[in-house]
Amino acid sequence: MNNQELRELVNPVFNTAKSCVQLNAAAGDKDAQRLLDVLGFPPFGAQMSKKPIPKELQEQVKKLFPAYMILIETRFQAMNRLIEQMRDRQIVDLPCGYTSRGLRLSREGRTYFGCDLPAVIDAMGPAVESIIGKNESISYHAVDATNYESMETALPGNSRGLLVTTEGLLMYFVQSELEEVFSNLRRLLQKHGGSWVITDRAYFLYDKEVVAATLNNDPTLTALYASVTNRAAATTADVKFNDNVFFDPDDGKVRSFIRKMGFELHEICMADYLPDQIASLKGTPEAESAVRDVFKKMMFWELTVAKNAAETPVDRNLPFKVEASVKDGTFEASIQGRMDTITAPELLKQFQNAGSDIQAIHVDVLMMYKSLDDKDNFELTGVSDEVREILETTGFDQFLLKE
Ligand SMILES: C[S@@+](CC[C@H](N)C(=O)[O-])C[C@H]1O[C@@H](n2cnc3c(N)ncnc32)[C@H](O)[C@@H]1O
Repeated sequence: MNNQELRELVNPVFNTAKSCVQLNAAAGDKDAQRLLDVLGFPPFGAQMSKKPIPKELQEQVKKLFPAYMILIETRFQAMNRLIEQMRDRQIVDLPCGYTSRGLRLSREGRTYFGCDLPAVIDAMGPAVESIIGKNESISYHAVDATNYESMETALPGNSRGLLVTTEGLLMYFVQSELEEVFSNLRRLLQKHGGSWVITDRAYFLYDKEVVAATLNNDPTLTALYASVTNRAAATTADVKFNDNVFFDPDDGKVRSFIRKMGFELHEICMADYLPDQIASLKGTPEAESAVRDVFKKMMFWELTVAKNAAETPVDRNLPFKVEASVKDGTFEASIQGRMDTITAPELLKQFQNAGSDIQAIHVDVLMMYKSLDDKDNFELTGVSDEVREILETTGFDQFLLKE
């Protein structure tokens, strides 16, 4: 397995970004089309006929394409307008996915840091450079939002006044990761100033209404959207979807979480930032007007560090370290620090280098567990039935396994 394959393996969430650029291209964004061509991605939906979905269902799902297009086009274009208005800010697009925003901002002379998992950035950096050439203001950085150091390294120390834009990220985290991300973003904003604008809550609350308005309130299609969308997103990303407090239907809980994490929340009505013509609704003025009405309820959530926030949160994680050896056919690894998308390939690489003669694996994670102040922040996933049984027999499951 080469490095790219290892990177793709450790976090399949990167796959979700493909459909976003495909849908923006379908909605007429020329930069997105340019990127599709360079990245070698097919148009949206082209892969569907290769999947084992019954033909009849495929036809139904095709009818949902305009709905997916409108969701992605509005999210992307409304954020672009907000960025236009915040002229003095440096944009940190987290996660940038394969979005064409960097191309657009290169023409406007803005400073843009596209940040995403290594599997995305490895393709995106060269793709954008091949279109706009070398440009010091437009750069791409491999980060994991749960890993503070990776984000700090992405930004020059003298960057001031950030606008961190988040579209389509928070739904992929479990609660402990969500907290890590909030704590990292607060630290980043304390250092560089600025704010963090999120669209994920607005689309969680109102996507079905936008879809209904787009599809003339057709009940069969709207129900189909509701049933396939979350499942498709979770399958593509191979994680649970909306499984943290940010997606709790109780607004009060989310607001109190935001305060607890040291942020103030300011809401900005998204309807004021929609493009003058929503391209994917061209020729259907009634649907467009119904969609605009839904957006009157949809808010960008802009977070700034609260004035009375406690001191900067510190990263309590020890530096990541793997010590591995093979003894009598047993691969033994002792791990320290936080394992995430940036650090995990190191462990996999050592495992690969250990050869094919492995009969048993012994991973010592107690060192990691002991290093945490808050033991609730430890979770083991992907555990085999055998290991689960051992943990249950020894009673360690209560600490190490959450479900
Ligand atoms: C649905 S896509 C959205 C991408 C982009 N904002 C857009 O609208 O096209 C989700 C993105 O989140 C990225 N992602 C997932 N987990 C991440 C993490 N821990 N740190 C940084 N990026 C992450 C994925 O690689 C993927 O590119």
